[in-house]
Order: sequence, then structure tokens, then C-alpha cells
Amino acid sequence: MRKIQIVTLFPEMFKGVLESSMLFKAAKNEIVSYEIINLRKFGKGLRKRVDDTPYGGGDGMLLMVEPLVKAIELAKANDPSAVVILPTPRGEDFKQAAANALAQADHGLILLSPRYEGYDERVTNWVDYQYCIGPYVLTGGELPAMVMIDAIVRLLPGVLGGANSASDESFQGGDEAEYPQYTRPDEFRGLPVPPVLLSGNHRQIAEWRAKHKR
Ligand code: ADE
Repeated sequence: MRKIQIVTLFPEMFKGVLESSMLFKAAKNEIVSYEIINLRKFGKGLRKRVDDTPYGGGDGMLLMVEPLVKAIELAKANDPSAVVILPTPRGEDFKQAAANALAQADHGLILLSPRYEGYDERVTNWVDYQYCIGPYVLTGGELPAMVMIDAIVRLLPGVLGGANSASDESFQGGDEAEYPQYTRPDEFRGLPVPPVLLSGNHRQIAEWRAKHKR
């Protein structure tokens, strides 16, 4: 079973995603286990403070290095071989190849989800991978962490069911059909399904799909 630990100030953000659909089923079927680590627990002082102002000035607050490192140390104590992933707009682009590699690996994952205007850069000494999920800036690392978890977990053998396995095409390419698809009814408000798809002619269907690949 793959262990995925998530360090966050907002555990509730993960609920809807980890407790629905395929990600939930993967956990129920013991293909994966999720553990949320509340960063607040490692905050400093009575108020459990996790952020402070940036040295050198500038707007906003940064996550302090100590709470992050303590949370990582707890996650590593739970799972010593796990790798640590930091979502950041300054990271390497998170591509399907990275999802494939992380799905095929035999170690656990620890995902950080930084908040506020950023984090103390020294935390990167405890980080194995830094990934950016796209050319836009989000308010925090929670959504990127969820995107990466979704992309990885769907590739684990047994999660998508049917023919999914380490050797089949969806594992390697990891994507949905690249051609347009249709289901019943064969006409909706004057919009027909391309007749070739109803023809039962497998060669012509394959040709049509090849021609319409995105
Ligand atoms: N944090 C904020 N924006 C992000 C992005 N696009 N990718 C990863 N982490 C982020």
C-alpha cells in the first residue's frame, strides 16, 4: 500500500477530494493510504504561530522553516523512505512523466502545501522535488498537492479497474482517450453522433479516431 502524507494548515480542503470517487475507492481498497498532518500542531508558542514577516522587507507573511521541518520529520518518522514534494510556482513543471515515475516508485510521498505569500527557502533542504502544476499562481499549495495526488493515484495498479495495470497503455501514457467520444443518445437536439461510430466497422472507427486525435 502506498502511503501519502500531506502537511497542511487546511486539512478540510482535502476532505472532498480524498473522500470521493476514485481517490476514496483507492484508499478503501487499500491501494493507498492518506494521512493529513496539521502544520498548526508544530506552530510556535501559545498561539501556534507558523508564519512571520520576510527578512529584507516585502509584503505578506512567510511560513517559518521550523514548523515545516518538524512536520516533515514526523512524516519521515512514520515512513522513513518517503520523498518530500513541495508545490511551488518556481518548481519544475509537473508532467505526466513525473506522475508515472512517482506512481511506479516503491516509496511513500510527503506533500507539503505552503500558504500565505511563501515559505522560508531553507525548507528546500528537506525537499526532494519541487513542482509547478501550471503557469499561474494559486493562493496555496493545497490544490497543486491535490492535483498531483490525483494524477499519481489514478496510475496505481488497480485504481481505475478493468484492464489498468503496470503494462497497459493508460499507465504509460496516463491519459484519457485523445479522440472525441460520444454516448447515447445518437442524436441530441439535432446534434448527431458521427455515423461511422455507429457503423460497427472497427477499421473505419479506428481510422476516424486516428484522424481526430488531439
Ligand atoms: N503554488 C502557487 N501556485 C502554484 C503552482 N502553479 N504550482 C505549484 N504550486 C503553486
